[in-house]
Amino acid sequence: MVNILHIDSSPRGERSHSRELSKEFVSGWKAAHPQDAIAYRDIGRHPVPHVNEAWIAAAFSPPETHTPELTEAIRISDELVDEFLAADRYIFGVPMYNFNIPSTFKAYIDQIVRINRTVALDAQGFRGLVEGKKAVIITARGGDFSATSPFIAYDFQEPYLRTIFGFIGITDIQFINANSLNEGDARTQSLSEARAAIQDLIAQW
Ligand SMILES: Cc1cc2nc3c(=O)[nH]c(=O)nc-3n(C[C@H](O)[C@H](O)[C@H](O)COP(=O)(O)O)c2cc1C
Repeated sequence: MVNILHIDSSPRGERSHSRELSKEFVSGWKAAHPQDAIAYRDIGRHPVPHVNEAWIAAAFSPPETHTPELTEAIRISDELVDEFLAADRYIFGVPMYNFNIPSTFKAYIDQIVRINRTVALDAQGFRGLVEGKKAVIITARGGDFSATSPFIAYDFQEPYLRTIFGFIGITDIQFINANSLNEGDARTQSLSEARAAIQDLIAQW
């Protein structure tokens, strides 16, 4: 049995393409692997908190030194990290906002990138602690940032996500980028390509 963590980050409901596509991946996966356990978190509609001063004090000091206030300040982060580490695989639905990820997804990343929990720091530098895991990241973009597009240099979303998840040790990441979703005819084509990519990946992942 594989434990999967499925996260959506669009604030939109029925109209969200990233949500619709990540759901399609999960439904197909469940049909093919009914024994797997899938946890779900909706940070688009139920955002996690931003880090604050007490969080920072708690995250960068040994837990055994924490006052009750510092324990409380880091509690949600601890729960999110526990949930993250309990998963073997990840499925993320992520809109492109201003050429990058929505702030809700960034707030989540700030909560789970934690020294001594998901990344270690020693004399050799940083070392990711989240090893042997795989991720599928399904993005939704209004414009076209595909390899042949003149706007590929504006895509800070896929490079950032590869970097930050690689930083904590997750390097096996498959991207399904649904481009051109605000571009009329191109949208239909893009969605059908994303759907085909989802079915292919379900068969191979
Ligand atoms: C605040 C905001 C910023 C956006 N920025 C971009 C952008 O930089 N590039 C782009 O191609 N589309 C941009 N879009 C369009 C979204 O990426 C597109 O609507 C996508 O489908 C949103 O994901 P969702 O359908 O899952 O909600 C933006 C949309 C919003 C609401």
